[in-house]
Amino acid sequence: MSTSSPRDRGNQPVVSILTLGCKLNQGDSEVIARGLAGEGVAVTDRAVPGAAAFVINTCSVTHVADRKARQLVRRARRLSPDAQIILTGCYAETAPADIAQEIGADLVMRNSEKPSIPDRLLNSLAAKGDPSVGCPTAIDPRSLRTRAFIKIQEGCNELCAFCIVPYTRGREVSVPIEEVVRIAQEREAEGVLEVVLTGTQLGNYGRDLGWSEQGPRRLLEALLEHTRIPRIRLSSLQAQDITPDLVRLWDDPRLCPHFHLPLQSGSDRILAPMRRRYTADRFRRAVALIRDRVPGVGITTDVIAGCPGETDEDFAATYDLSQEIEFAQMHCFPYSRRPHTGAESMPGHLPPEVRRERLERVMKLAAILSERFRQRHVGTTAPVLWEQPSDGVCQGLTGNYIRVYALAKHDIRNRIIPARLDALARDGLQGTLVMGTTL
Ligand code: F3S
Repeated sequence: MSTSSPRDRGNQPVVSILTLGCKLNQGDSEVIARGLAGEGVAVTDRAVPGAAAFVINTCSVTHVADRKARQLVRRARRLSPDAQIILTGCYAETAPADIAQEIGADLVMRNSEKPSIPDRLLNSLAAKGDPSVGCPTAIDPRSLRTRAFIKIQEGCNELCAFCIVPYTRGREVSVPIEEVVRIAQEREAEGVLEVVLTGTQLGNYGRDLGWSEQGPRRLLEALLEHTRIPRIRLSSLQAQDITPDLVRLWDDPRLCPHFHLPLQSGSDRILAPMRRRYTADRFRRAVALIRDRVPGVGITTDVIAGCPGETDEDFAATYDLSQEIEFAQMHCFPYSRRPHTGAESMPGHLPPEVRRERLERVMKLAAILSERFRQRHVGTTAPVLWEQPSDGVCQGLTGNYIRVYALAKHDIRNRIIPARLDALARDGLQGTLVMGTTL
């Protein structure tokens, strides 16, 4: 998305679309941004003063996510007192009925109402008399994110005991293959070099269309056959989705060597009541299957510290399994009691200080493992898809999801150019461009 201020765009109204939460939400925001940009509205993913409107696309996965949603609305109101503020996303599903009034939003729109947000905003901007609104404009893909997010399904039938997502996103609904391929071809024609397939349960793709376990494989085969997009990334899969048939597709280097497999807990005593569909051993086998077939793969995960009933031994099992697997990146959360979930009324909720202490321990481990993974790449060369520079420094991602920082004399945005990976840097690696080798 563009990052220009309202003043750089002359009289064009600017809408700030602020996104919290997962890649599914990022994909939803991208659809809203495209709907507005195609009608002459400048969009930005930053909270800019003087914006004509804000869309705040929220998450509700933890208490902290809820709090961030409320803070963002208040901040938007301070930045632009007259702006229209729409609160949407998962917090909009779970928030109290009077939330808009309490925090200063003008409108609350549910996840299912997101597709109508561009029209609503266009109508209200046009009513304010902006002449450029409603004039169809070709979208400059460079004004959007480098990676395009394509939602392939939404909703979850799994009902994990700790998770609010089935409540906020409803039952599983898949986007038909032909439609996903059509959108991907459109992005390819715009010059997009990486698409990220998003959803709530990607591994269940197509089940509601009657395809049993074959859905993800059939979709990926269709995308590989009918597009030439250089990179296709899956936002996440579950351990039980990993089969030899599926992983074989990664023989095609266009599928990014990156798997996000949420572990949540390494103890079967916790996984079972949390209604996860794998055991620690099944998780190990999934990782072995991937590593066997996909060289250099980056395996990332989510872990919850302090689920109800988690003993020291259960937590140690999570810690040890994470260490054994050597995740490239771990998103660690403290267990958060969520309304409407099975775990809400389970016995054995742990005191906050125990959850916090376990969270700190697992986060320290995550930092060590991430550094170890990145360190192994120092001295190698890898293709990087370069994004919008920030403070003069270019940054981008490797196929296996390492962030690389480099200096460049020219605009290298939205190009895949290899970099020599020189040293550890912040959350990624410092690199040097290997020019003359654009892929
Ligand atoms: Fe958050 Fe909703 Fe995604 S709860 S993690 S934004 S599906």
